[in-house]
Amino acid sequence: MKKRAVYPGSFDPITNGHVDIIERGLNIFDQINVAVLKNPKKSPLFTTKERVRMIESIFPEQKRVNVLPFNGLLVDFARKIKSNIVIRGLRAVSDFEYEFQMSLMNRKLAPDIETFYMMPAVEYSFLSSQLVKEVCSLGGCMDGLIPPSVEQKLKKKIEQNKNINL
Ligand code: PNS
Repeated sequence: MKKRAVYPGSFDPITNGHVDIIERGLNIFDQINVAVLKNPKKSPLFTTKERVRMIESIFPEQKRVNVLPFNGLLVDFARKIKSNIVIRGLRAVSDFEYEFQMSLMNRKLAPDIETFYMMPAVEYSFLSSQLVKEVCSLGGCMDGLIPPSVEQKLKKKIEQNKNINL
């Protein structure tokens, strides 16, 4: 039976840390369904479509990576696409509490769905979409933080949203 995993997140935007987790996941699972949350509480800088397209453009040849928008409960989405594995990245101890709560809540809602945690490469352990946006908006060096195609789009978006506080 094929191992289909869901990798959910806001991906606003996708970072090299996320890419690293997807690549690691491909060594373990047959298919990774990157699930882009449609309505994060924090209003996203990029639209859902833009976030989906940016991720797709990073894996153009990889047939085992699907990118899909989702809203509602993650476990409902996982069931809809017939997956019983949720992948999450764990960067540091500070991520643990939120992730622990989320995985146990998801288990309560859907005991058949298991959350699988992976650590990104150490060079990405400090990376977050939020910090990337802040550094980019303040003119910092983006080398190694996000894929070049995402950097281009982020710079353009920040230019268009000059008056928005990130
Ligand atoms: O990248 P993020 O913002 O840390 O991702 C959070 C995400 C999308 C995984 C989480 O907010 C989520 O699963 N949202 C869907 C709603 C849901 O299922 N809530 C109950 C889970 S505790």
